[in-house]
Amino acid sequence: MNEELFSASESLTFDDVLVVPGYSEVLPSQVDVRAQLTDGITLNIPLLSAAMDTVTEARLAISLARQGGLGILHRNLSPEAQAKEVEIVKRSESGMISDPVTLPPTATLGEAETIMRQFHISGVPIVDPWTHKLVGILTNRDIRFCGPDDHSRPVSEFMTHENLVTAPTHTSLDEAKAILQQHRIEKLLLVDEEGHLTGLITVKDIQKKIEYPNAAVDSRGRLLVGAAVGVGPDLEERLELMVARGLDIVAVDTAHGHSAGVIRAIQRIKHHWHDLPVIAGNVVTEEGTEALLKAGADVIKVGVGAGSICTTRVVAGSGMPQLSAIYACARAAHRHGATIVADGGVKYSGDIVKAIVAGADLVMLGSLLAGLDEAPGDVIVYEGRQYKQYRGMGSIGAMQGYGKDRYGTGQSKGGKLVPEGVEGMVPFKGGLADYVYQLVGGLRSGMGYAGAVSLKDLQERAKLTRITNAGLIESHPHDVVITREAPNYRRNE
Ligand code: XMP
Repeated sequence: MNEELFSASESLTFDDVLVVPGYSEVLPSQVDVRAQLTDGITLNIPLLSAAMDTVTEARLAISLARQGGLGILHRNLSPEAQAKEVEIVKRSESGMISDPVTLPPTATLGEAETIMRQFHISGVPIVDPWTHKLVGILTNRDIRFCGPDDHSRPVSEFMTHENLVTAPTHTSLDEAKAILQQHRIEKLLLVDEEGHLTGLITVKDIQKKIEYPNAAVDSRGRLLVGAAVGVGPDLEERLELMVARGLDIVAVDTAHGHSAGVIRAIQRIKHHWHDLPVIAGNVVTEEGTEALLKAGADVIKVGVGAGSICTTRVVAGSGMPQLSAIYACARAAHRHGATIVADGGVKYSGDIVKAIVAGADLVMLGSLLAGLDEAPGDVIVYEGRQYKQYRGMGSIGAMQGYGKDRYGTGQSKGGKLVPEGVEGMVPFKGGLADYVYQLVGGLRSGMGYAGAVSLKDLQERAKLTRITNAGLIESHPHDVVITREAPNYRRNE
């Protein structure tokens, strides 16, 4: 489908086309929006968040994974700090926590409080470091009335150790719920026959399972998370630390993926972590896609200069309108059974539909997510309206950090950088769940117009038509003064 459109000599992007409505027997509410990222990873919605320091840290990654998508943690921070972000996501919730944070009875109350604050947990099992047997649990309830004078005292003086409620390792969530209810406790300790701690089930986790039925999780019920790495010497160190904390997928994050450094980086990763899925990019051509797949990448990320904060196309004169790039890369990737992520340039939910029709399997979002409550940074009030900061990873500000090799130019005269991005702000949009509901709602509607029951079906059956500038003007609200903002439409978003 759509060969004719894309075989013309000009290159197209989102605003150049529309999806032609087709015969439909499906309702938007009935369509299947699950997306296969790799053989082993299926997301429940086809959305990834950009690896940018004003978009994806643990908080947004947790929120997006709860809705069924995947956050890619940025790399503009130290290897230890990035690994910590991975750990926060992986520990945020799960059906059963198989490696809970524990402390020895000799740890001080001050240490326990620090750990509890750091991981946002309300209780810590206490384990004997010599026998590895469970000896108690310290919860908020035990330390409710403690003061600063108690900080240096050992947790053994405060923990609950008599009549500990425990259950065998293979207790199901339903059984756990009944035990928790019966004893009016919040945490159920799982132990093996010798009394070694084997896991923990919390009321919070059970509630979250009910609250977020669509969450994207690993085989142990933990939220999925990805993280970016560069091609520099710290790649191995970052991965070592992040894989140990349960990283699910890594993204080799560069502005120019069709390059020797990226090919080598993929090989370095696959050499040490053969089973770790790799997203690599960014590329915009069939040749680039082929090269990265040949090097061992599992997923190809597409887009050069499409991002809302990018200046690559004007600074370097290089890039490719995003829809043509998606089409070209998808052709190559799908020949090999690989998937592509369309990265950059998405302004409205309709662009997600167009990206998928052009061949994308999933879509990565930066500016659309940067204004959410869960994105890093505070709300800025400017001329009476609320905004959040959003900056390119190739902007001067971002390039002061760890991620400057993304734009691997090696150019820095007397410390002067050659940026390929700008710093700015986007409207504040509130919480992620409601916003993603609208984005996915738009995608569902688009599938309804195309008569597509699944994303693959959408790719295969929908046709794009080229529109003129007059057609684009007609597409947006026109000849009216908008008096009430819609939750899914804002001009110049
Ligand atoms: P959107 O349009 O969703 O794009 O805001 C996000 C994507 O833009 C890329 N990115 C950049 N590209 N200069 C660039 O040329 C930059 O400074 C920059 N920062 C991010 C990146 O692929 C991201 O996912």
